Amino acid sequence: MKRVYILGIESSCDDTSAAIIKDGILLSNITASQSVHAKYGGVVPELASRAHQQNIIPVVHQAIKEAGISNTDLSAIAFTRGPGLLGSLLVGTSFAKGFAQALKIPLVDVNHLQAHVLAHFISLGSDKEVMPQFPFLCLLVSGGNSQIIVVRSYTDMEIIGQTIDDAAGEAFDKCAKVMGLPYPGGPFVDNLAKTGNPSAFKFNKPQIPEYNYSFSGLKTSFLYLVKDKLKENPNFITENLNDLCASIQNTVVEILMAKLRKAAVDLKINQVAVAGGVSANSALRQAFYDHQKKYHWDVFIPPLAYTTDNAAMIAITGYFKFLNNDFCELNEAPYSRVVMS
Ligand code: KG4
Repeated sequence: MKRVYILGIESSCDDTSAAIIKDGILLSNITASQSVHAKYGGVVPELASRAHQQNIIPVVHQAIKEAGISNTDLSAIAFTRGPGLLGSLLVGTSFAKGFAQALKIPLVDVNHLQAHVLAHFISLGSDKEVMPQFPFLCLLVSGGNSQIIVVRSYTDMEIIGQTIDDAAGEAFDKCAKVMGLPYPGGPFVDNLAKTGNPSAFKFNKPQIPEYNYSFSGLKTSFLYLVKDKLKENPNFITENLNDLCASIQNTVVEILMAKLRKAAVDLKINQVAVAGGVSANSALRQAFYDHQKKYHWDVFIPPLAYTTDNAAMIAITGYFKFLNNDFCELNEAPYSRVVMS
């Protein structure tokens, strides 16, 4: 039987990544991250596009080399079509089109958010791997999204709840900025929270209907608390940094888990997964394990390498679409914003 080799390309934000999947099994996954943005306190779109231009050919070359294959083995090229930064997406999309044309192989367009969910199906070929069964719930939490998704198959996903304002990652990053921590602040908050008291400071939780989230009020109440305390004590932040981080982290995790619990009960689904950059957060991971014990959930937490943007998740999504003969025309353009269909 002919083997299926998929090259996945990810360039939606500030990571240029390429991966090779052979018959559903990951052979390589190479990522070039862009450090240029750190000093600006956020991703600068134009700098990101330029860095993708510099990185994309060496990254793809390395992924193919590490997989031990040659260009002509490839069956199709899967690329992130959106959502993301348009200039960044254009680099990956244009490269994928050109390469697919040169090799005379099909193109598969991938929705970045669906790919985060399907990261749970990235396989290294071991028979010990346990993957979610359909239907399952997936909490997708990143710098731009906070969603609860019902996943019925590789291609059938329904968003049943999402943030009405800021994403969970944004809440971490904005609170971190108030405390003078570097960007992106989420990992710093996580680290500092380890020796802090999660109950030291209390913040109001949003009262939003159904399975939706809101994090902008939390960010504002955090800002006001810090401002008020700084008036009394100019060293308030440094003297309370660990407690502040632990408290904000605890509040974000409690908000996320409360809606997820409600969805699991209402829909009678006990397979629950987490995906996206914020799923690297240690308190959120712990909350999943606690829920596994307390509510008898089967929980699925991706390895850290697949929580952030990576091409392995694009390649596996492309693989499933390839098997469905779901290809993309050469005149398709990237999209910056989209809701998952
Ligand atoms: O999915 P992702 O890599 O990309 C974007 O959405 O752009 O998510 C990045 C987000 C950032 O907000 C970052 O602060 C957050 O994930 N993040 C974390 C942790 N690691 C990354 N937030 C909390 N704790 C972490 N350990």
